[in-house]
Parts: sequence; structure tokens; C-alpha cells
Amino acid sequence: MGERPSRHEIAPGAVHLPGWLPMSDQVRLGAAFEEWAGGPVPARAPSLPGGGRMSVETVCLGWHWLPYRYTRTADDVNGRRVLPFPDWLGGLARAAVHSAHGAQAAERYRPDAALVNRYREGASMGMHQDKEEQTADPVVSFSVGDSCVFRFGNAEGRGRPYTDVRLDSGDAFVFGGPSRFAHHGVPKLFPRTAPHGCGLVEGRLNITVRVVGAAG
Ligand code: SIN
Ligand code: MN
Repeated sequence: MGERPSRHEIAPGAVHLPGWLPMSDQVRLGAAFEEWAGGPVPARAPSLPGGGRMSVETVCLGWHWLPYRYTRTADDVNGRRVLPFPDWLGGLARAAVHSAHGAQAAERYRPDAALVNRYREGASMGMHQDKEEQTADPVVSFSVGDSCVFRFGNAEGRGRPYTDVRLDSGDAFVFGGPSRFAHHGVPKLFPRTAPHGCGLVEGRLNITVRVVGAAG
């Protein structure tokens, strides 16, 4: 049998699961992204209210996210309804919640949305909270492709204290409970570190699965 996967609690409720996704699931996520990015709402770099754009390209499933709210239709792109949130992705996220927070938490976890971000070389994400969801259920993050620094901070502000965690292809990271509203971001990518066979030749894919609940 395989080794028991490791589990690192970075802060209460914030759990890093290195190498949690088998290569076959990484490949499945990479292939699915190519399909999702084609539409009905194509992947795009979200526009920020103050002007400018984010440096990642995002495609949404279940609910459309734009800075800083959820809608059913992508009114900032082409007005179309986003693809439904796939059951298989919900099952994968529930299994990660099981590994991170145990059976009871997994049993009640009912995700309804995912934001899928593609980081090309030079892309990053500033410190922010995931707080547009109408629930406090955990966020589950899956990474595929190039490695990055994931900065995991605190709920009070964007600055210290924070912990820098290297996320590699196949890692899962679950943040819930007291860490659900911690600020986090991706200050740095490590180009050309994607492992052979993960399905991505360059860049990084991050999928965050969420429970949005009622519309924001
Ligand atoms: C996010 O905060 O939504 C994405 C985090 C990541 O790319 O690891
Ligand atoms: Mn986030």
C-alpha cells in the first residue's frame, strides 16, 4: 500500500496536503480547464474596480465571480451563464476536506462553485480574503503545474504574521474554521517546475472549490 499522505496544519483549520492529488487527477484537471476555458464564458483576466486587470486568467463554474461578488451570469464578459459545478470536482473537494478536517466536516460539505485560475509566467495574486461567499464552509485549493509560494496570513490584515508555503503540482490546501477568512496570496511562481506528466507543460493552474450559498 502507498504511504500515508502527509498533513501539515499551517494555522488552526488551514491544512496543507502535499502530493494529495494523483497524477491522473492532475491530468484530468488540466484537460478539464482547457474545455472550461473555451466557454460558454471564456477564461479572462478579471477587471478590477479601480482600473487594471488581475494577472491570472479565470474561469468560473457554478457561480461567476467578478471583483467582488458572485452572479449567475457573466455580465462583465458576455452575459452568459457559467457552466454547472461538476459533481466529480465536488467529490474530490469533499475527499480533501475529509483528509484535512475529518469525516464529519466532509459529510456536511456541499460545494457549489469553483474558480479556476491560470497563472502564466510572471502572474501573481495579491493578499486578499475569500469573503464574497455567503457561508463559512472551507475553501479547497488544488494546484497543478508550476510550483509557487502561497502566502497564508491572518484575518486582521494583509501583512504579517504570515507563513509562506511552497505549493507543488498535486498539492491540496484546505482552509476553514478559524482560518477561513485569513488573507492569502501568491507572490511568486517558479517557472518550469511542472513535473513531467502532470498535463501542464508550462504555467500553473489553481482550482479553488467553494460553498457560495445564496447569491451575494
Ligand atoms: C486564490 O486565492 O483564489 C488562489 C490561490 C492560489 O492560486 O493558490
Ligand atoms: Mn483566494
